[in-house]
Amino acid sequence: MPNSPLRIIAAAIALLVCAAGAFGQTPVDEKSGLIIAQGWQVVRAHCGGCHSHKLVTSQRADRQTWLDIIRWMQSTQNLWQFDAKTESTILDYLSANYPPQQQRRRAPINPSLMPAT
Ligand code: HEC
Repeated sequence: MPNSPLRIIAAAIALLVCAAGAFGQTPVDEKSGLIIAQGWQVVRAHCGGCHSHKLVTSQRADRQTWLDIIRWMQSTQNLWQFDAKTESTILDYLSANYPPQQQRRRAPINPSLMPAT
């Protein structure tokens, strides 16, 4: 039964899953590499003047640690002060889009899958 309703439904589901995957991808600003989300232009404006935005996007931290990083730059690296609203926009953006990640490496390969020595 090559055209059974079940096969058609299965094909439709497969198509939907693929489409969702493509649309679900996080949009990223090509120039800065920043994830495009609420507040990203503020971060682009304030966080790329002294170093690459890549230094920002390669960091992962919770809100408090992001604040610590900012305070550290303010007290030792001449980073300017932000007004409260700007600072909370920046912290919201960073903690939402670059949160801590427990495990960024894949698990080790199972020894049984390694070449025999
Ligand atoms: C006034 C200059 C300046 C601005 C603006 C600036 N930074 Fe930095 N930042 C620095 C310097 C200097 C370093 C140290 C760079 C190095 O180690 O080579 C640094 C380092 C960092 C690091 C790495 C910290 C670490 O522990 O290695 C992160 C993350 C970071 N900045 C994020 C940001 C974010 C987020 C913003 C915007 C709120 C920002 N920076 C704006 C000067 C600045």
